[in-house]
Amino acid sequence: MKEKIETLLAEIEALNCKAENEIEEARVRLLGKKGEITKLFEEFRTVAPEMKREFGQKLNQLKTAATAKIEALREAAQESSVSSASFDLTKPGDPFRLGSRHPVSIVREEIVEIFRKFGYDVAEGPEIEDDWHVFEALNFPPEHPARDMQDTFFISSSANSILLRTHTSSVQVRAMEKLPLPIRIVCPGRVFRNEAISARAHCIFHQVEGLYIDENVTFADMKQAILLFAREMFGAETQIRMRPSYFPFTEPSAEVDVSCNICHGKGCNICKGTGWLEIMGCGMVDPNVLEASGIDSKKYSGFAFGMGIERIAMLKWQVKDLRNYFENDIRFLREFETVI
Ligand code: DAH
Repeated sequence: MKEKIETLLAEIEALNCKAENEIEEARVRLLGKKGEITKLFEEFRTVAPEMKREFGQKLNQLKTAATAKIEALREAAQESSVSSASFDLTKPGDPFRLGSRHPVSIVREEIVEIFRKFGYDVAEGPEIEDDWHVFEALNFPPEHPARDMQDTFFISSSANSILLRTHTSSVQVRAMEKLPLPIRIVCPGRVFRNEAISARAHCIFHQVEGLYIDENVTFADMKQAILLFAREMFGAETQIRMRPSYFPFTEPSAEVDVSCNICHGKGCNICKGTGWLEIMGCGMVDPNVLEASGIDSKKYSGFAFGMGIERIAMLKWQVKDLRNYFENDIRFLREFETVI
């Protein structure tokens, strides 16, 4: 029996299996119901009384050693399966989808960033406005037909009516009323017009207004600012052209086209064969507008411009149906995931 214990001890010491099933086999072989150690305990009953003490101790040592070894082997097996089998730390992570910015936000930030580089600050104003800031101070007298150019949502129609702003030009009035001169700002924001919703018109859209007021600001300064903007936005080769136009708040006024960046002037269906794409309105701030906000029009002059963000986005990505920008169709929004 003594010898048997010694051999088993040596065997336990040498035990080196790694797989969980092998460890379990070893456990059954040693400690199971019919295991070697269990058998020894049965044999122990027949040991002569004077030998019991010595053998008892030896047997207990053997059992403890076996149990401890099996436990140690199991822990080692588990650790290695955690680090090698179920976790491959070199594997790339599970892919997950990031949200994306809305195309209107992407373009708004791009426009604002370009003008920020030119030294323009950002100014904002309320969406719910009064008649003064949207019309009156911008040289739209009460019965002026130009008011019909913009179908307005009125909230109250008392003497100084409250309405949803139809353009961000209202922010230039607020800026001129309160900012120190010179003023150099861009005003991004949401505007509202009472229009039937279609591919080409929507009752909500976004604009960026620009305003520069200082002494001796000229039309040439405006042209240069707009040309630089167009080249930053649409590429270094971009050309601009200005067509005479009319806005009550600027004189002279113009509409600005950029050379079509799709066909490069050859004519395509985006520019309708003309080679040019309209991007904004602009002009020299009318002296009446300066005076309405308390600015001396003899000393100061300035230019203003306004563009639709959706329009620029349309030209950038050829998304022709305006409704895409407002319906939050996830398939449309996901198209911009890579743009972040
Ligand atoms: N407010 C005009 C609109 O909504 C856009 C505009 C045109 C703004 C000419 C300007 C400007 O500042 O000078 O159609």
